[in-house]
Amino acid sequence: MERITITGGMPLQGEVCVSGSKNAALAIMAGAVLASEPVILHNLPRITDIYTMMAMLRRLGTVVEFIHPRSLLIDASRISYLEAPHNLVTRMRASFSVTGPLVARFGFARVPLPGGCDIGARPVDFHIKGLRLLGARVEMDGDFVTAEAGRLKGNTIYLDYPSAGATQHLMTAAVLAEGTTVIENAAEEPEVVDLAKFLIALGARIDGHGTRRITIEGVSRLRGGEYTIIPDRLEAGTYAIAAAMTRGSVRIVNANAEHMTPVLMKLQEAGVQVEAGETGVHVQLHSRPRAVNIKTMPHPGFPTDMQQPMTALLCVADGVSIVSETVYERRFRYVQELHRMGADIEQENRTAVVHGVERLYGATVQATDLRAGAALVIAGLGAEGDTTIEDVHHIDRGYEDLVAKLQSLGAQVVRLSDEPVASAVEEVPVCSV
Ligand code: EPZ
Repeated sequence: MERITITGGMPLQGEVCVSGSKNAALAIMAGAVLASEPVILHNLPRITDIYTMMAMLRRLGTVVEFIHPRSLLIDASRISYLEAPHNLVTRMRASFSVTGPLVARFGFARVPLPGGCDIGARPVDFHIKGLRLLGARVEMDGDFVTAEAGRLKGNTIYLDYPSAGATQHLMTAAVLAEGTTVIENAAEEPEVVDLAKFLIALGARIDGHGTRRITIEGVSRLRGGEYTIIPDRLEAGTYAIAAAMTRGSVRIVNANAEHMTPVLMKLQEAGVQVEAGETGVHVQLHSRPRAVNIKTMPHPGFPTDMQQPMTALLCVADGVSIVSETVYERRFRYVQELHRMGADIEQENRTAVVHGVERLYGATVQATDLRAGAALVIAGLGAEGDTTIEDVHHIDRGYEDLVAKLQSLGAQVVRLSDEPVASAVEEVPVCSV
């Protein structure tokens, strides 16, 4: 088992480069299935979710190769297989989103239903309802979804909730449909906008991305092309919160401050100094953070993925913070791990009341999901003594080179493994590309 050990109390100082956005890259890689010619993607993060999606695309017969440490060639011109493997979809929910592109381009797809995870049931009913509205016959056989269609036909789709994944998935299905599709109550996340811009670069006709109403005029095929993925606002937000937690001063290079507005505004409310520039964001704090209230909402509200890292900071804030999680039904399981570090949090259903304490204390804790792991890393960086975080494979899903990046900022952190460590992938500093 892999684990991380942190000796807390070191203020983070210096510069860290943010990698490409996991949640944009995964949607864009699924969308690349639509292209009849090769696609080259730049600024890919080297994280396990990307490798899982690569494996998924290869199983469909797509050629997928890194042609540069963070540039990926995807050639879906000769896809030969229209069934997605069970183990890959259940491992990573985002791979379900190959269904729409396969049925849009080839008229058929058979994909396992993604499972729930530690933060919630994660249903895909909006996805299935939308595919049916586009004319696909969608049947469930066991835990597989089979979707069939002649050419999909444009329609109006109203999403009960502005689901990021459903918006992305249905947008990719609609770009090859006959006629016009309108997605009402669409998600506005930057990763939705990035996918739309990628599809437009391949010849798709999309308007309204970044608003609650997206209009897609279907085209007959998508050509190949090149595209650069946006920076990861969630990784950047994690380092901003870690800088505040350690009372440090960190420049997050390549971060897009506009994508981070909800998090940066909340950090400023907590007393953190934030300076946004052309090439990134500078974050510093030299006193105890103030308590603030957090309510997670769809973009442009406070992102649910930053709820856990932010709560770790609020554990040592001066005062009482109320954290409301409106997006997922159970995204507080990590609170019991923070309790082991001395946090004073009362959590019931979707609300946590965080009574700030002077300091946290190191302990051995478990990462229960990706962002819970990030929260525990932040807690360990600010705690007195040593913290060991187990099950770090969760963290590897979304944070490239976390230990190396933290070490470059002065953190005392090491990664330990019970198994022999495979030869490290060639280390190429993110900022060099
Ligand atoms: C995306 O997940 C992100 N993942 C999540 O990030 C993020 O937390 C989430 O959006 C919300 O911003 C990727 O992009 C790969 P949703 P997604 O559909 O698309 C309900 C991370 O840490 N819902 O916006 O699956 C759902 O249960 C991950 O990087 C339905 O009810 O999220 C949830 O309550 C975690 N039916 C709400 O909508 C559906 O068909 C929002 O989910 C779809 C969703």
